[in-house]
Amino acid sequence: MKNRFDYDYFKKSADYILDKINFRPEVAMILGSSLGALAEEIENPIVIDYKDIPNFLISTVQSHAGKLILGELSGKKVACMSGRFHFYEGYDFEQLVIPVRVLHLLGVKTLILTNAAGAVNTSYRPGDIMIIKDHIKLMGASPMRGPNIGEFGPRFFDVSDMYTRELRDLAKKCADKIGISLQEGVYYFCPGPQFETPSEIRAIRILGGDAVGMSTVTEALTAAHCGMKVLGLSLITNMAAGVLDQPITTEEVDEIGALVSAKFRRLISEIVKEID
Ligand code: HPA
Repeated sequence: MKNRFDYDYFKKSADYILDKINFRPEVAMILGSSLGALAEEIENPIVIDYKDIPNFLISTVQSHAGKLILGELSGKKVACMSGRFHFYEGYDFEQLVIPVRVLHLLGVKTLILTNAAGAVNTSYRPGDIMIIKDHIKLMGASPMRGPNIGEFGPRFFDVSDMYTRELRDLAKKCADKIGISLQEGVYYFCPGPQFETPSEIRAIRILGGDAVGMSTVTEALTAAHCGMKVLGLSLITNMAAGVLDQPITTEEVDEIGALVSAKFRRLISEIVKEID
């Protein structure tokens, strides 16, 4: 069986980007719903539209800008994806490896993944930031299913420290320093685009999920496969379905995103500064 995407497929995207910059980013960020504002803090930015990158994907979600920004943040060379791709947009798991493999070919060693998520854990509150300790993805195949591309990583790979402890500890230290409190918990992947049913949320709670969301896990798996260190941060935008006797709306998700965005930006800038 042949891979739909071979090594050269990803290299074509990376070569297009490398041609426009004269450095190699060490740290990358993928910014989720309403968290794109961090991109504004990047100095000497070179902005590339996803649609101009050969073999890349296109953002279809309104709150996602669809731009790759390369420049400096807290003195580090960074690549920042403002807007990401999701299974619910129609992309399959195999396509969702593309951005992270391209970032890897640019030279990225550390990946910070951010997302908006609903709180399954009833001690969490909207506005909280949760460090992702681990994830649960019981739905669908691995994005690494199919012939392995050895240039990226081995056929079988360990994911027991996928959300790298060293980075989780660093995030806690940085949060302490700037006076932000953090939660730490398990992110449960649901495919969306509908929010979950109250019964699904009760099941997820029993299974060990603390927060629920529609992104991030394919990116973390792809990064783990190619040996990147990963930090995942969820912004809790709402209590998950059935916790409160009210519907979940995209407006509340975006509203909390906007309210907490400044705190989130400060935390990420501080973390990027302290990454080795
Ligand atoms: N469920 C899934 N994804 C989400 C939620 C939610 O409650 N809130 C923000 N993203």
